[in-house]
Amino acid sequence: MFRRPSFAAALVAGALSLAACDEHLPVPQPAPTAPRSAVAPAPPNNTLPQIVRQLAAARGIVPLAAPPRVRPALAKLGQALAFDRILSGNKDIACTTCHLPAFATGDDRSLSIGQGATGLGPTRVHPTGVFIPRNAPPLFNLSAMRHLFWDGRVAVDGAGNITTPAGAQLTPAMARVFEFGPVSALGMFPVTNRFEMRAGSGNELALIADDDFQGIWAALMKRLGAIGEYRGLFEAAYPGTRFDDMNFAYASNAIAGFIVDQFSTRNSPWDRFLAGNDAALTMAQLDGAQTFLTLKCSICHTGATLSDDQFHNVAVAQIGPGQGNGVSLRDDFGRMNVTGLPADQYRFRTSPLRNVELTGPYGHDGSIASLREFLEHYSESDLKLLAFDPTRLEPGLRLTLVNNSADVLLQRDTLLAGVVLSDALVDKLMAYMSALTDPAARDLSRSVPVRVPSGLKVDGR
Ligand code: HEC
Ligand code: HEC
Repeated sequence: MFRRPSFAAALVAGALSLAACDEHLPVPQPAPTAPRSAVAPAPPNNTLPQIVRQLAAARGIVPLAAPPRVRPALAKLGQALAFDRILSGNKDIACTTCHLPAFATGDDRSLSIGQGATGLGPTRVHPTGVFIPRNAPPLFNLSAMRHLFWDGRVAVDGAGNITTPAGAQLTPAMARVFEFGPVSALGMFPVTNRFEMRAGSGNELALIADDDFQGIWAALMKRLGAIGEYRGLFEAAYPGTRFDDMNFAYASNAIAGFIVDQFSTRNSPWDRFLAGNDAALTMAQLDGAQTFLTLKCSICHTGATLSDDQFHNVAVAQIGPGQGNGVSLRDDFGRMNVTGLPADQYRFRTSPLRNVELTGPYGHDGSIASLREFLEHYSESDLKLLAFDPTRLEPGLRLTLVNNSADVLLQRDTLLAGVVLSDALVDKLMAYMSALTDPAARDLSRSVPVRVPSGLKVDGR
């Protein structure tokens, strides 16, 4: 129900005036059923599928491009590395401990729990209760994204250069190894983080200074080179290069190859609809698509991935240990931590939405448990933020709510001002979200290897 009777019109009108190219956007309605005629009529151009196609095109929402091809030997090496705890300081955690195939490449937690812990997904526990400051995002279709991490600190710039927190330590020779854009660079970083993988003590990687990325990467290659099977896998993945001439960029690029090969999904009903199949969406999903494409959602959630690959403040409550920001040191200034620009404070990357039904909890800190609640959050998001109830979080996070709502709301994206969504609209948006699930993403167990070259335990088996 609309709290204010005239709001539906205002929401749509607002959306239409916000993007110049949208000013002539039609808001067509499906034609009434045409009278039966003996002569086959010309195909109507105002059926609901056609209207949805026009709206999508007007919003720049296009089919996902085919992912780049991955050499099988590269994907095989990447699979081994992604599941091998050998990449963590104390050999107790792998990439896929947090990006679990069983949980749609996330961990089904608000905030991840890193090295030094036991258990998987929702039942993982850390003896000293340490959380990672942000929610583990899913790994779907990452070759299509220009900015990675919630704050975009691993990215590709307009000139095709990869930018990362390692600056010049990530050398041009390393960058040349990257075949899949920023996702190839991403694996260079979780291994350097003490809370995620490296640990504070107890191993040779932990002794290296935090800003010595080169040192950490070299020590990891030394570890891998001590395992004959890895030497063989690396040399098969990069024919013509000797293992001893390789650096950790070869490992990170291989993990990206595995991610791109296994987690590129473009067979959702929405993908099939965009590819030309009018029958791919149910009536409810078509109606939901029309709603999503008419509301402001699709101004930010646009393009092939349903993300503008830009940063916005949509007033999500801040929980967890944070990024050392603010007076409490527990706040997270998001994109501002990368650019230094005050205007970027509290901005996070617009989430791509493929398989979003499967990837909760939601938001950069997973502070919203269910998809429906996240959609409801957009309705009067200022009041939602002020009324955020931390007692619904898991016990270890209940006392961590950061008192930053006044500052967040000062900078909330102006697109959210005045947005009120009725339950009926949320129902429609939920129907559209359900159209974004590729059935293949529901069971990713095929991507879990039987064993890894180190012989260490494989999570998720
Ligand atoms: C302790 C849990 C944990 C481990 C281990 C871990 N990750 Fe993550 N991953 C996260 C979290 C949390 C984020 C979000 C961090 C941020 O945005 O600041 C993330 C972000 C990512 C992203 C960015 C996705 C996007 O949409 O921007 C990729 C890709 C990724 N991780 C791959 C890896 C790889 C490869 C490894 C192993 C080398 C790894 N992760 C190890 C928790 C983990
Ligand atoms: C102003 C740009 C903007 C608008 C408008 C917008 N979003 Fe978002 N959306 C974002 C950003 C940014 C995030 C991540 C926010 C964060 O974590 O702090 C997000 C996150 C989400 C998520 C959570 C995804 C995840 O994996 O955690 C969903 C679902 C979502 N949006 C759906 C919608 C729907 C439906 C609408 C319309 C009612 C909408 N969005 C309107 C920018 C926007």
